[in-house]
This record gives sequence, C-alpha cells and structure tokens, in this order.
Amino acid sequence: MSSAQPDAETLHAAITMAVRAPSVHNTQPWRWRITGSAVQLYADPERHLSATDPQRRGLVLSCGAALHHLRVALAMLGWSTAVSYIPDPVDPDHLATVECAPREPTRTDFELSAAILHRQSDRRRYSDWRVPPGYIRTIATRATACGAVVRHVPDALRANLARPARAAIEQHATDVDYQLELAEWSGRRGTSDGVPAANSPVPHPNNEIPVRAFAEPALVDRTMHPDAAEWLVICTPADDRRSRLRAGEALSAALLTATDLGLSSSVQTEPLGLPELRDEIRTHVLYDCAYAQAMVRVGWVPTSAAPLPQTPRRPLSEVLDQ
Ligand SMILES: Cc1cc2nc3c(=O)[nH]c(=O)nc-3n(C[C@H](O)[C@H](O)[C@H](O)COP(=O)(O)O)c2cc1C
Repeated sequence: MSSAQPDAETLHAAITMAVRAPSVHNTQPWRWRITGSAVQLYADPERHLSATDPQRRGLVLSCGAALHHLRVALAMLGWSTAVSYIPDPVDPDHLATVECAPREPTRTDFELSAAILHRQSDRRRYSDWRVPPGYIRTIATRATACGAVVRHVPDALRANLARPARAAIEQHATDVDYQLELAEWSGRRGTSDGVPAANSPVPHPNNEIPVRAFAEPALVDRTMHPDAAEWLVICTPADDRRSRLRAGEALSAALLTATDLGLSSSVQTEPLGLPELRDEIRTHVLYDCAYAQAMVRVGWVPTSAAPLPQTPRRPLSEVLDQ
C-alpha cells in the first residue's frame, strides 16, 4: 500500500474549489482545517439561518455539497478520498474527516471538476426545449451513487409540488423573521457572501411551480414561452445529520453532472423549511417512502439569455483555520 499523501498546496487548491459549492442564501456555512494530510470539515453555526432553515437541514446540506466538491477536486488532482462522517460524537459541528490515497484521475473526474468552475444557480425561466430522459437518468445515477435517492417529478405530480411551494410563499409573506433574514442575505451588491441582486429574477407570473423570491431582484424576464424545466427531488430514507450530509453530496453530484451535460440548474428549498409543507411533499410526491432534502430544477436557458455573473465567495483565509 502506498503511503504517499497530498501536500498542503494540493489540499489548499482542493479547498479553493470546494468553496465554489452552492449554499443556502450563499451563507457558505463551513470551516476547514488541515491536520497532517487529512482535511476536516466543520459546520459554522454562526452562519445558520434560523428563520429560513429552522431544522439546520440547509446548513448541513450546504456543507455536504462542499464536501462533494472537495472530493471531486481531489479526484482530479490524483487522490481518492475516504470520509468519516460526523467523526466526533461530542462535536456535532465536526461533519467530516477526509483522508486521501493516490489514484489515477478518470475522465469523469476531469469533467466534474471543470463543471465546478462553470456551475451557477440560474433562477430564470428556461426554454421550451425538453431535457432528454437519458440526461435525467445520468444525473440521478451519479447523485444516487452518493447515498441519496433522486425522484424525478413526472408531469402528473407537478401540482403536488406547486401547492406547497405556493403555500410557503404565502406563509413567508407575513413572517417578519423570515423577511428580515431574506433582506439581510439577499439583494447584495459587492459582498463576498449572500445572494447578489444581479442573480435574482423578479418572480414570473407564469411559473407553474413558484420559486423563492429574493430581495431587490435585478433580473427582469418578460418572455412568455413555456418553460420545459424538469424537477428532481433529492431525498433520503432517513432524516438524520449524516443522511443530510450525504444528500448535500448527492445535490452537488446532480448539479455538477447537469452542468457537465450543458444544462442550467437551480436549487429550491423554500417549502422544506416549513415542517407541514415538507410532510406534504413527502406524502404526495414521495409517497411516504423518503424525506425530501432539496429540489433541483434543470433545463436549457434560451440562447438569447445574457450570461449571469458568478456569485462571489469568501477568501480562503476566512474559512480555513490555520
Ligand atoms: C441547501 C441549499 C438550499 C438552497 N435553496 C435555494 C432556494 O430555495 N432558492 C434558490 O434560488 N436558491 C437556493 N439555493 C442556491 C443558493 O442560493 C446558491 O447556491 C448560492 O446563492 C450561491 O450561488 P451559486 O449557486 O450561483 O454559486 C440553495 C442552495 C443550497 C445548497
């Protein structure tokens, strides 16, 4: 067995790619530590959104997505990874210890790694081009390999996703704490975290399944063509912290695979922060077989759509403990 281990420079490069991961309201709720040749991932409870994400599911999922990004980056750099999940029973914020062993990168490692640099949330309406069923199968297969399940929502069940999505928007409209948190974390200009105004569309009246509205949206979409987006639900058989971490990894795998296939994507979780609406999705979309952790919307942006700016990230010095 080889005793070769990645050097600090390699681990820094991989963590730099990991922090490109999506996170709820772009809170980037993670801290990293390098101990010898291992990488430690911690949740940052100070970045928890108590009104938006009361059960901390989004926080743990965001860290899971960053963990998967790290593993993809290390794979591309020639390292396979072994993860101990929640390794310290007395510190629930210590989410993972990642250890490495040398391994030749595969073509998929390079493709997913390249996707880290291109992926972004595109919340605009997509075009009327259908997503080929084979693409949905590829996304689902890659995500499922990370330990979660992907449910493609067929046309007949879309109303069962639209109903809780509408109800969440109604409930949040009068929830002062939710609105204050939204105002604090979105409509951003020139900051290294939060959701930028430039990436937030004005809610479109034709959206069959409405999506979370952010503060001060600067993207106006007047197109009226049908939107052929497909919806996927990332779900897990159990609902503990480890399952949510794995769901975050699966979410990352789904988004990077979609990006690699040329698709646009966005994550939607608004109704999942409200327990009764999350239960409704569990019953009427997942037939009580699994717990919904995140919804993903995939499709093709119209060729006429302007490119979106990339959402900023905090510098490594703010998230890496020395
Ligand atoms: C757990 C989780 C929940 C999210 N929920 C939503 C959501 O409800 N609506 C939305 O538009 N984006 C959502 N996002 C996407 C983030 O807002 C986005 O990743 C972040 O702003 C960074 O932007 P980027 O994805 O373009 O890099 C979510 C992301 C994660 C990981």
